[in-house]
Amino acid sequence: MSRRERLSVNGVETVGAYTLLRLDRGTLDPGAPGQFFMLEAPGRLLPRALSLCLAPTGELAFLLDAVGPGTAALCALEPGDRIHVFGPLGNGFRLDVGRPLLVGGGIGMAPLPYLRAAIGDAPVVLGFRSDRHAEAAALLPAAEVVVDPVLVTSCIEDGYDVLACGPEPMLRAVADIAPDAQLAWEAPMACGYGACYGCAVDIGGELKRLCVEGPVLAAA
Ligand SMILES: Cc1cc2nc3c(=O)[nH]c(=O)nc-3n(C[C@H](O)[C@H](O)[C@H](O)COP(=O)(O)OP(=O)(O)OC[C@H]3O[C@@H](n4cnc5c(N)ncnc54)[C@H](O)[C@@H]3O)c2cc1C
Ligand code: FES
Repeated sequence: MSRRERLSVNGVETVGAYTLLRLDRGTLDPGAPGQFFMLEAPGRLLPRALSLCLAPTGELAFLLDAVGPGTAALCALEPGDRIHVFGPLGNGFRLDVGRPLLVGGGIGMAPLPYLRAAIGDAPVVLGFRSDRHAEAAALLPAAEVVVDPVLVTSCIEDGYDVLACGPEPMLRAVADIAPDAQLAWEAPMACGYGACYGCAVDIGGELKRLCVEGPVLAAA
């Protein structure tokens, strides 16, 4: 069940070009892989949506790409700081698949460590824009890693149930190769629970509120 709670920062770690923010879990449920949480970004009016990356005992951990003021403020937190966190929210990945292949592009790898822990020892392919970004693959031991200009879609073979998260062009390319894939999409989110319509996106000719109908949607 979704709850809002003020959580303490346990650690802030550099992982290549990204930052792993480790929070005390409090009484929050980690939810299903692919679900997300709204994290208070200090000094900003609106919280920011983040996928759960890892759920070690007693913690919730989020992988951050500091692309703007909200994510930069979250990366600047220090152990002992406290922030409001709301979640888990949205619909995660279906885990009842026969032959999973996890596919991540850039910060889209964020939900995959928690997903792999839940789904078993599935193969993983990851694509990054630089070697420094690719250092984050350490969170997914034995993953196959490619760096631009090699595209992660070149590593997707037939016969797998693809579960993917990454930038929109990557997801569209994955959908072309694997029409049965499950794709975790992104859109700017203000509330995270269906009230503001800020996350409405046109998918297949229909407007969908990604925070309630997604973020994971069937490619078809
Ligand atoms: C369900 C979900 C899960 C997410 N999980 C993660 C995660 O695990 N780690 C992570 O680092 N980020 C994640 N994001 C993206 C993150 O929430 C946004 O990038 C956030 O708005 C950044 O805030 P900011 O203030 O730092 O930058 P902003 O100033 O809000 O944005 C910086 C730039 O990114 C663009 N942008 C902002 N939000 C989005 C978005 N959602 N999709 C595409 N472009 C956007 C803006 O147009 C701008 O160009 C997730 C988003 C969603 C919807
Ligand atoms: S973020 Fe408000 S409706 Fe989806």
